Amino acid sequence: MNPILVIGATGTVGRQVVSQLIAAGSPVRAMTRNPDAAKLPPQVQIVRGDLTVPETLDACLDNTDAVFLVWTALPSAVAPALQRITQRARRIVYLSAPLKTPHPLFQQPNLLRSMFEQIERTVETSGAPWTFLRPGMFAANALLWWAPQIRAGNIVRWPYLAVPTAPIDERDIAAVAVRALREEGHAGAEYVLTGPQSLTHSEQISTIANVLGRDLRIEEITPGEARRELLTIGPLPAVNMLLDAWSAALGHPAHITSIFTEITGAPAKSFRTWVTDNVAAFRA
Ligand SMILES: NC(=O)c1ccc[n+]([C@@H]2O[C@H](COP(=O)([O-])OP(=O)(O)OC[C@H]3O[C@@H](n4cnc5c(N)ncnc54)[C@H](OP(=O)(O)O)[C@@H]3O)[C@@H](O)[C@H]2O)c1
Repeated sequence: MNPILVIGATGTVGRQVVSQLIAAGSPVRAMTRNPDAAKLPPQVQIVRGDLTVPETLDACLDNTDAVFLVWTALPSAVAPALQRITQRARRIVYLSAPLKTPHPLFQQPNLLRSMFEQIERTVETSGAPWTFLRPGMFAANALLWWAPQIRAGNIVRWPYLAVPTAPIDERDIAAVAVRALREEGHAGAEYVLTGPQSLTHSEQISTIANVLGRDLRIEEITPGEARRELLTIGPLPAVNMLLDAWSAALGHPAHITSIFTEITGAPAKSFRTWVTDNVAAFRA
């Protein structure tokens, strides 16, 4: 059996894809720029590859079956890398975003949108069977957004506290990816995946406080303050992208789908379950 290639194998979703593929009995090849730091299970064949250095992809793609693709590299590297990947992959499962869902959270202009669209167009026209995963907000964003503040003290400062989202557990995204990588019947599918529950930012932070058994003071900050204070979570364009999406989504219930359950037969994991399983990250 040829291995399934996981690009982005050391990331939030890719790491789960790797472990669930192993559990399902598939041989796995994991691509990373730095094999020494990969910390992946011993059964995994780890290969060095860089999406911005296209010639490194050939050895990664050699004799592979399906490819799981996460793209966080620069837009300028898309065309040469995708040309190689689409020529060689026998099936492609791409981690995209809900680009076509008519909910304001997902429809604000942003810098990454045209890059996602370029990747999708290249994959769609390549001739290889493909599946696009379109998850909404990751539950794991809490590690970047709130864990540092919660580890440091009892105050969480955040904008748009009343905006609801339906955070999805990365294990659920991976579970759908693994089915699309291993099973027939997912070609041409675009799966919009969300968590099971609409929760405001304030409710999500309160859930973390509750699981920790701590009293946290949640303070709303203005978008202007957020632009200055949230540079710890990313560069200004990324912060602006989030602020624009949240501003537009204010007053709209979160978009929730049942696609995860339709595909897997299991209920989507709640945000409380995600927090409980990741609680150590919020402890000092
Ligand atoms: N966060 C959200 O709420 C959300 C919602 C919807 C969609 N998304 C999408 O999900 C994707 C991110 O997924 P994630 O959070 O699982 O990723 P992540 O944790 O940020 O990890 C990024 C992965 O990409 C790999 N990578 C980065 N640059 C690379 C390069 N030049 N060559 C090869 N590999 C490279 C890294 O591997 P090495 O460092 O080991 O090389 C790492 O495994 C993005 O496309 C994002 O737009 C996110």
